[in-house]
Amino acid sequence: MCRIFICTTCNRYAPPRADETTPGLRLARIVKAAAAQDKAIAVRMVECLNTCPNPCAAAFREPGKAVIRFGGLEPGDTSALLAAATTYAQSTDGILSPNTLPERLRSKIAGCITLGIPELARR
Ligand code: FES
Repeated sequence: MCRIFICTTCNRYAPPRADETTPGLRLARIVKAAAAQDKAIAVRMVECLNTCPNPCAAAFREPGKAVIRFGGLEPGDTSALLAAATTYAQSTDGILSPNTLPERLRSKIAGCITLGIPELARR
């Protein structure tokens, strides 16, 4: 199962008024609702994914796989994000080449983390 972590505290540098939600929380709610029927994807809301200068942020994570982090996301990326999560879930190591991603996400990759997975870090 692919877990999509979405930062609810984006945009850290432009906090909303007390009666507003953050863009990150709005994105998380939209993605969570869109993924509700997909048993292969779980959406988790978290505070900060260290992509703060480029809000909004999300990351794919599964045990034993690379973590793929995205920045600059907006609600219009929801379908692309879910399609990429499905590709990630089907991969053996979580490493996604840009060509396997929906085009609108290719410029929004903010990192591929293989720390703690020695067999991936050596590649
Ligand atoms: S506040 Fe969203 S990534 Fe840091």
